[in-house]
Amino acid sequence: MPVEESVRVRVPAKINVSLAVGPTRADGYHDLATVFQAVSLYDELTATWAPAGEVSVTTIGPFADHVRDDEDNLACRAARLLMDRYSEGAAWGADLLVDKAIPVAGGMAGGSADAAAALLACAALWDLDVSPAELRTLGAELGADVPFALLGGAAVGTNRGDELVPVLGRGCFHWVLALSEVGLSTPEVFARHDELVGTPVTPRIRDELMAALGSGDPEQLAASLRNDLTDAACALQPGLVDTLELGRRHGALAGLLSGSGPTCAFLAAGESAAMELARNLRAELGADAVRRVRGPVPGAKLVQVVR
Ligand code: C5P
Repeated sequence: MPVEESVRVRVPAKINVSLAVGPTRADGYHDLATVFQAVSLYDELTATWAPAGEVSVTTIGPFADHVRDDEDNLACRAARLLMDRYSEGAAWGADLLVDKAIPVAGGMAGGSADAAAALLACAALWDLDVSPAELRTLGAELGADVPFALLGGAAVGTNRGDELVPVLGRGCFHWVLALSEVGLSTPEVFARHDELVGTPVTPRIRDELMAALGSGDPEQLAASLRNDLTDAACALQPGLVDTLELGRRHGALAGLLSGSGPTCAFLAAGESAAMELARNLRAELGADAVRRVRGPVPGAKLVQVVR
């Protein structure tokens, strides 16, 4: 008999306050030097006990239409991976319900967040003795951003972006996100980046960025934001140039493409500046396309256990 009937996990989206892209590796991935920041836009995943060997997923929320609820769903694959590695014949199963608020194909690690949530939720549902570090190692098999969705906060990511070192910073940064109706494929953005760049250099993180995160000063951080994928994403979705400009025109300290895009993240001077910026962007882009968030926030977290 199960100890827990259902378990609910909340998991944040991420932005990359710096994303330096290096050469392509033998496995097709790129060497990265990035700084992740988890932000307060969350998916919630509820895992409920199901008959032995069964794993299913149902997605709800505004982006549900863009997600396939089948075996290839990253949350499903995460639950299966955990079952394969740890069950040793035990009679486990899980129905996963994902309430999705993180945009799909938006450059905010929405799929990876759900994989991270599924790992944590199923580990609790099945009462596994698995450490956070072990979960992150499993997560890296599912996608380069999964370990960070588990860790949260702010972290330097190297290798594929999956080797993490937490960044101890001060304060809280206020962002406004502009979502795009049409997503971008991450592999396509990386491929276009390779075409545009020619000979890549070893990626590194600038000292000024680390100092800015340490200080908690948004003006300093604004001057250090960087995303090497910006030109490639703008080449694939030219409207992004206008969106980035729009945020700056409405008082953002700086605009930044989030990951491989197309979500744009605008850094505000503080909470009230972010509220005003969000109001202005809603008037231009529509309420559905704008979110106000803060970061850093913790990674995937158990929020409810029903016994
Ligand atoms: O690991 P994940 O499945 O999230 O990565 C999606 C795609 O993004 C990869 O298949 C690859 O094309 C690209 N990528 C990359 N280098 C990285 C991370 C992702 O080329 N470090």
